[in-house]
Amino acid sequence: MEQVTPFLLVLSLALVAPGLFAGKCNLTGSWINDLGSNMTIWPIDKEGNFNGIYYTAVKDTPNDPKRSPLLGSQQPSEYPTFGFTVNWTFTDSVTVFTGQCFVDEDGKEILKTMWLLRSHENSIKDDWKATRVGYNNFTRIK
Ligand code: BTN
Repeated sequence: MEQVTPFLLVLSLALVAPGLFAGKCNLTGSWINDLGSNMTIWPIDKEGNFNGIYYTAVKDTPNDPKRSPLLGSQQPSEYPTFGFTVNWTFTDSVTVFTGQCFVDEDGKEILKTMWLLRSHENSIKDDWKATRVGYNNFTRIK
Protein backbone atom coordinates (compact mmCIF):
# COMPACT_ATOMS: atom_id res chain seq x y z
CA MET A 1 0.00 0.00 0.00
CA GLU A 2 2.84 2.37 0.91
CA GLN A 3 4.42 1.79 -2.53
CA VAL A 4 1.13 2.18 -4.37
CA THR A 5 0.29 5.65 -3.01
CA PRO A 6 3.30 7.52 -4.54
CA PHE A 7 2.71 5.65 -7.78
CA LEU A 8 -0.92 6.79 -7.86
CA LEU A 9 0.17 10.34 -7.04
CA VAL A 10 2.63 10.41 -9.95
CA LEU A 11 0.06 8.82 -12.25
CA SER A 12 -2.67 11.32 -11.37
CA LEU A 13 -0.24 14.25 -11.78
CA ALA A 14 0.76 12.94 -15.18
CA LEU A 15 -2.89 12.78 -16.19
CA VAL A 16 -3.94 16.14 -14.75
CA ALA A 17 -0.86 18.27 -15.48
CA PRO A 18 -1.36 18.51 -19.26
CA GLY A 19 -4.86 19.83 -18.59
CA LEU A 20 -3.52 22.36 -16.09
CA PHE A 21 -0.82 23.69 -18.34
CA ALA A 22 -2.43 23.28 -21.74
CA GLY A 23 -3.79 26.31 -23.64
CA LYS A 24 -6.51 27.85 -21.54
CA CYS A 25 -8.07 30.12 -24.08
CA ASN A 26 -8.88 29.27 -27.67
CA LEU A 27 -10.25 31.85 -30.09
CA THR A 28 -11.70 29.25 -32.44
CA GLY A 29 -15.48 28.94 -32.25
CA SER A 30 -18.56 31.13 -31.92
CA TRP A 31 -18.85 34.18 -29.67
CA ILE A 32 -21.48 36.73 -28.67
CA ASN A 33 -20.77 40.20 -27.30
CA ASP A 34 -22.51 42.61 -24.93
CA LEU A 35 -24.34 44.25 -27.86
CA GLY A 36 -25.71 40.92 -29.09
CA SER A 37 -23.35 40.75 -32.08
CA ASN A 38 -21.93 37.33 -32.86
CA MET A 39 -18.92 36.01 -34.70
CA THR A 40 -17.39 32.71 -35.66
CA ILE A 41 -13.63 32.27 -35.85
CA TRP A 42 -12.34 29.37 -37.95
CA PRO A 43 -9.34 27.28 -36.83
CA ILE A 44 -6.13 29.29 -36.43
CA ASP A 45 -3.22 28.41 -38.71
CA LYS A 46 0.40 27.70 -37.70
CA GLU A 47 1.38 31.36 -38.08
CA GLY A 48 -1.48 32.47 -35.81
CA ASN A 49 -3.64 33.83 -38.63
CA PHE A 50 -7.39 33.29 -38.80
CA ASN A 51 -10.57 34.06 -40.75
CA GLY A 52 -14.15 34.24 -39.65
CA ILE A 53 -17.55 35.84 -40.03
CA TYR A 54 -19.14 38.63 -38.01
CA TYR A 55 -22.80 39.55 -37.67
CA THR A 56 -23.37 42.88 -35.94
CA ALA A 57 -26.53 43.50 -33.91
CA VAL A 58 -26.15 47.28 -34.23
CA LYS A 59 -25.22 49.52 -37.14
CA ASP A 60 -24.87 53.13 -38.21
CA THR A 61 -26.59 52.78 -41.56
CA PRO A 62 -30.14 52.16 -42.83
CA ASN A 63 -28.86 49.10 -44.72
CA ASP A 64 -29.72 45.64 -43.40
CA PRO A 65 -26.73 44.09 -41.65
CA LYS A 66 -25.30 41.04 -43.35
CA ARG A 67 -22.57 38.60 -42.50
CA SER A 68 -19.21 40.28 -42.92
CA PRO A 69 -15.77 38.70 -43.18
CA LEU A 70 -13.16 39.10 -40.48
CA LEU A 71 -9.43 38.58 -40.82
CA GLY A 72 -7.05 38.47 -37.86
CA SER A 73 -4.01 37.13 -36.10
CA GLN A 74 -3.04 36.11 -32.59
CA GLN A 75 0.10 35.58 -30.53
CA PRO A 76 0.99 32.03 -29.45
CA SER A 77 0.04 32.07 -25.78
CA GLU A 78 -2.28 30.43 -23.28
CA TYR A 79 -4.12 33.73 -23.02
CA PRO A 80 -3.47 35.14 -26.46
CA THR A 81 -3.53 38.75 -27.50
CA PHE A 82 -5.08 39.18 -30.92
CA GLY A 83 -6.40 41.62 -33.48
CA PHE A 84 -8.87 41.35 -36.33
CA THR A 85 -10.47 43.56 -38.96
CA VAL A 86 -14.12 43.39 -40.01
CA ASN A 87 -14.74 44.59 -43.55
CA TRP A 88 -18.46 45.39 -43.48
CA THR A 89 -20.32 44.10 -46.52
CA PHE A 90 -23.40 46.35 -46.20
CA THR A 91 -21.66 49.71 -45.79
CA ASP A 92 -18.30 51.34 -46.50
CA SER A 93 -16.88 51.38 -42.99
CA VAL A 94 -14.26 49.15 -41.38
CA THR A 95 -13.76 48.11 -37.75
CA VAL A 96 -10.54 46.90 -36.15
CA PHE A 97 -10.70 45.01 -32.86
CA THR A 98 -7.80 44.21 -30.55
CA GLY A 99 -7.90 42.33 -27.28
CA GLN A 100 -6.96 39.36 -25.18
CA CYS A 101 -8.58 36.05 -24.33
CA PHE A 102 -8.92 35.44 -20.56
CA VAL A 103 -10.56 32.86 -18.34
CA ASP A 104 -12.77 34.55 -15.74
CA GLU A 105 -13.31 33.57 -12.09
CA ASP A 106 -16.08 31.13 -13.11
CA GLY A 107 -13.74 29.37 -15.54
CA LYS A 108 -15.46 30.91 -18.59
CA GLU A 109 -13.48 32.22 -21.53
CA ILE A 110 -13.94 35.93 -22.23
CA LEU A 111 -12.54 38.11 -24.99
CA LYS A 112 -11.82 41.61 -23.71
CA THR A 113 -11.62 43.90 -26.72
CA MET A 114 -11.38 47.50 -27.81
CA TRP A 115 -12.38 48.63 -31.29
CA LEU A 116 -12.00 51.51 -33.70
CA LEU A 117 -14.81 52.01 -36.24
CA ARG A 118 -13.76 54.06 -39.24
CA SER A 119 -16.63 55.54 -41.25
CA HIS A 120 -16.37 56.78 -44.81
CA GLU A 121 -16.45 60.56 -45.27
CA ASN A 122 -16.90 62.41 -48.54
CA SER A 123 -14.62 65.26 -47.56
CA ILE A 124 -11.30 65.51 -45.73
CA LYS A 125 -12.95 68.31 -43.76
CA ASP A 126 -15.06 65.63 -42.06
CA ASP A 127 -12.12 63.42 -41.13
CA TRP A 128 -12.24 64.65 -37.53
CA LYS A 129 -15.54 62.83 -36.90
CA ALA A 130 -14.81 59.64 -38.82
CA THR A 131 -13.44 57.34 -36.10
CA ARG A 132 -15.29 55.97 -33.08
CA VAL A 133 -13.85 53.92 -30.26
CA GLY A 134 -15.39 51.46 -27.83
CA TYR A 135 -15.17 48.24 -25.86
CA ASN A 136 -16.80 44.85 -26.35
CA ASN A 137 -16.67 41.69 -24.22
CA PHE A 138 -17.32 38.40 -25.99
CA THR A 139 -18.36 35.12 -24.37
CA ARG A 140 -18.42 31.73 -26.02
CA ILE A 141 -21.67 30.44 -27.57
CA LYS A 142 -21.95 26.80 -26.48
C1 BTN B 1 -21.48 50.46 -39.47
O1 BTN B 1 -22.60 50.67 -39.01
O2 BTN B 1 -20.75 51.37 -39.92
C2 BTN B 1 -20.97 49.05 -39.55
C3 BTN B 1 -21.31 48.24 -38.34
C4 BTN B 1 -20.49 48.63 -37.14
C5 BTN B 1 -20.83 47.81 -35.92
C6 BTN B 1 -20.03 48.20 -34.70
S1 BTN B 1 -18.36 47.64 -34.77
C7 BTN B 1 -18.12 47.99 -33.08
C8 BTN B 1 -19.41 47.64 -32.37
N1 BTN B 1 -19.40 46.26 -31.96
C9 BTN B 1 -20.32 45.53 -32.60
O3 BTN B 1 -20.50 44.32 -32.41
N2 BTN B 1 -20.98 46.29 -33.46
C10 BTN B 1 -20.55 47.67 -33.38
